[in-house]
Amino acid sequence: MPDVIRLKIKRQENPNSKSYWEEFEIPYRPQHNIISVLMAIQQNPINAKGEKVAPVVYEANCMEEVCGACTMIINGKVRQACSTLVDNIKQPIVLEPMSKFPLVRDLMVDRDRMFAALRKIRGWIDLDGAYDIHVHAPRVSPKDWEKNYDLSRCMTCGCCMEACPQFFPTSKFIGPAPLGQTWLFNNHPTGKYYKEERLHEIMGVGGITDCGNAQNCVKACPKDIKLTDAIARLGRDTTVQMLKDVFIK
Ligand code: SF4
Ligand code: SF4
Ligand code: FES
Repeated sequence: MPDVIRLKIKRQENPNSKSYWEEFEIPYRPQHNIISVLMAIQQNPINAKGEKVAPVVYEANCMEEVCGACTMIINGKVRQACSTLVDNIKQPIVLEPMSKFPLVRDLMVDRDRMFAALRKIRGWIDLDGAYDIHVHAPRVSPKDWEKNYDLSRCMTCGCCMEACPQFFPTSKFIGPAPLGQTWLFNNHPTGKYYKEERLHEIMGVGGITDCGNAQNCVKACPKDIKLTDAIARLGRDTTVQMLKDVFIK
């Protein structure tokens, strides 16, 4: 086992300053994950040259790959820092922030564009008054449970957005995660009351037609969510909605 853990971290003080690389070495301990390594640096922020520096800024919360907050690029791959064990990856460990979201500082980015997209597609189930809407309680078939469960595991980490070639700072594309959630909430017995509104949201500029079907999103998703299946089903739903808009209204 090595005596030290070597890291190379891409740092940037604020969105307008220049980025630079800084190296760190911390004593080896088994079972370290990337967040516990960053915590060790935070407690003793001395770089590999022995200089005292500002602690590295990053985000983390659940520490069990549930919240998505710690997502960053580790040795070139976008993934969660809390579930990446140091013993399983090559050193020096190279850490970079995600590149598709605005940078806040060091490894922390602002994922608000993804949350704004979820607000736009009404990515929730209305509870108030839901029981008044229904004559019977909402039912979900076992077949739908399976499909819905797959998409319900999304933790809005942003890995799929980072990997998608159509999603970048100046593009209007809503991105794979919000598209997946559009289908999920449309396939819920209460959520489907807003199906038309959700479909209309993704039928315009930056919507589903911007997806180039490159499949990168599926490969990048740490929860193995079948995003492109959901996008294909949404594609059919938007076509039907388009015909309805032309012939029924
Ligand atoms: S299939 Fe490709 S273009 Fe479409 S959302 Fe996924 S990564 Fe992006
Ligand atoms: S679909 Fe997967 S990769 Fe995309 S935000 Fe959700 S959990 Fe992350
Ligand atoms: S801290 Fe929540 S996913 Fe890593």
